[in-house]
Amino acid sequence: MHRRLLSASPAYRNLRSEVENEARAYRTADAAQRLTGVARIPVVVHVVWNTPDQNVSDAQIDGQLDVLNQDFRAANPDLAGVPGVFAPLVGDAQVEFFLATTDPSGNPTTGITRQQTTVTGFTHDDAVKSGASGGTDAWPADHYLNLWVAPLADQLLGYAQFPGGAAATDGVVVAHSAFGNTGTALAPFDLGRTATHEIGHWLNLYHIWGDDGTGCGGTDEVDDTPNQGGFNVGAPTFPKPSCGNTPNGDLFMNYMDYVDDRAMFMFTAGQVDRMRATLEGIRSPIVVPGGASRRIVPAGPVVAWGSHRLDAFVVGTDRSTYHKWYGGSGWGPSAMDYEYLGGTCMSSPEVASWAPDRLDVFVLGTDRGLYHKWWGGAGWGPSDIGWESLGGVCASPPRVASWGSDRLDAFVIGTDRALYHKWWDGSAWGPSVTGWESLGGTCTGEPSVVAWGENRLDVFVTGTDSALYHKWWDGSAWGPSVTGWESLGGVCTSPPTAVSWDEDRLDVFVTGTDSALYHKWWDGSAWGPAVDGWELLGGTCVGQPRVASWNANRLDVFVTGTDSALYHKWWDGAAWGPDLLGFENLGGVLSDFRLGSPNGGGRTGSTMPLPSTPASLTAARA
Ligand code: ARG
Ligand code: ZN
Ligand code: CA
Repeated sequence: MHRRLLSASPAYRNLRSEVENEARAYRTADAAQRLTGVARIPVVVHVVWNTPDQNVSDAQIDGQLDVLNQDFRAANPDLAGVPGVFAPLVGDAQVEFFLATTDPSGNPTTGITRQQTTVTGFTHDDAVKSGASGGTDAWPADHYLNLWVAPLADQLLGYAQFPGGAAATDGVVVAHSAFGNTGTALAPFDLGRTATHEIGHWLNLYHIWGDDGTGCGGTDEVDDTPNQGGFNVGAPTFPKPSCGNTPNGDLFMNYMDYVDDRAMFMFTAGQVDRMRATLEGIRSPIVVPGGASRRIVPAGPVVAWGSHRLDAFVVGTDRSTYHKWYGGSGWGPSAMDYEYLGGTCMSSPEVASWAPDRLDVFVLGTDRGLYHKWWGGAGWGPSDIGWESLGGVCASPPRVASWGSDRLDAFVIGTDRALYHKWWDGSAWGPSVTGWESLGGTCTGEPSVVAWGENRLDVFVTGTDSALYHKWWDGSAWGPSVTGWESLGGVCTSPPTAVSWDEDRLDVFVTGTDSALYHKWWDGSAWGPAVDGWELLGGTCVGQPRVASWNANRLDVFVTGTDSALYHKWWDGAAWGPDLLGFENLGGVLSDFRLGSPNGGGRTGSTMPLPSTPASLTAARA
């Protein structure tokens, strides 16, 4: 099926290489950038039966789900059978499966569909996945794992579609005779492991022997699995060497080999990395909010809550908010159209996303109060064009961060120039729906906020003396004090833009009185180049710099030049490109721009007016 799609579909080829790139990036990413916690996945079981005995019972389906929930949590009792030398390789995928409780129309469901068919034995041609060919249509694959149970011909136990294929055929198929651990399940495939194996494929695992026949040159793209000749069958005895992998031999007890159900009982940590990269990337929409949390998506006017996903928000000439999104293959509601979201806005929208398919949008109203609306996966709250009033009289646009699931922190500057804060803790707004916590200060412009970890916030503002000021929430208290601020020096002519590419790492950018770009950073123990010092990065910038980080130790900074063109420079971990003081000219005539980034800090502010010329370097410190 994989080879057929590879040769027939350019879209599949492209997505497959993208998925592999993401798997590679995930493998080398540090812990702070990885998915944490249990990923919960809704499943719909489509029972397609020819003879009544193939109409597997609810109890048999429950038994299959129980097997999956042991196998993908390394909680299966037979795990004890892993030979001692392989025990350190065992990985807990931290995936849990449950029968869907809501159908695609939003109605309650058992998560099971049943359909009689005249087909006596399906094959791997996907006929079982369509009502028109005697099967059952898939439910939307970005929100359900489709699991078809049907009579299969030619001793086929099951098959799966790798991530990157068409939604209409996405999911796994398991023969009724190899499904679950009771009822129609037949030895030696009667312990539910066919579904474990197929869902391994569905989460991007290859066969452990590398799919090269019996050769030693194939690979499963996993580092911790021994190189293995061909597949194993039955219930081999340890050790079983091939391809010079002595003394331990093949990892034949792995779910991705072809042994009998009772002989397979582990995934490796490297396989788990590939599966979790898939859940964090291309399959992220299917993960139910509230369990696994991903690396933090920075708030901004554009957010990317999943791979191949963008949500952009703008204010129209009628001052209402409009939304459009990129869903992987095209723009919604269409290339040129926008979704109308109502409101009369006095600021550009600020959007946060604390889970896949979750959006929280904030704007200022004509009363300068803060207003909020949210997308929960199925519709807009409080209504399609309605907004929740959160009080306040704001003198800056709102800046929002989210450090975890169902958590939001909003910051504005008040009319008294102090910084104000309110938060959503999963059940209520603090300090109250319309109330605000005062955090002191005498601020200008707009704040910049970064959340680099759970229960951690760092806020930057410029003071009325044009110096940069900083305060932080460490999980229990505000530092240096509730209303106090740490002075970080400088004479700033733009609001700060802060970003974090790792735990306890901060990078802040401003423009100085010479219009050049200046930078300072927190490395976990000290401010560089000094508490009140700045690194000069050249240029003649108009307005606020914008910065994004798409990987650890990577920064991309964008500014508008005096010719209104876009200019870019980057930190690659070792040096600034194109050089310390230089910029790459990206052209255009900009009146305003902001960034969206899937990782790191597309932290952005209001507008970019006025002209200047790039790359002229007067001295003077920011
Ligand atoms: N034919 C299958 C595949 O390659 C399933 C193998 C399942 N093995 C088992 N012991 N249940 O996808
Ligand atoms: Zn397989
Ligand atoms: Ca091989």
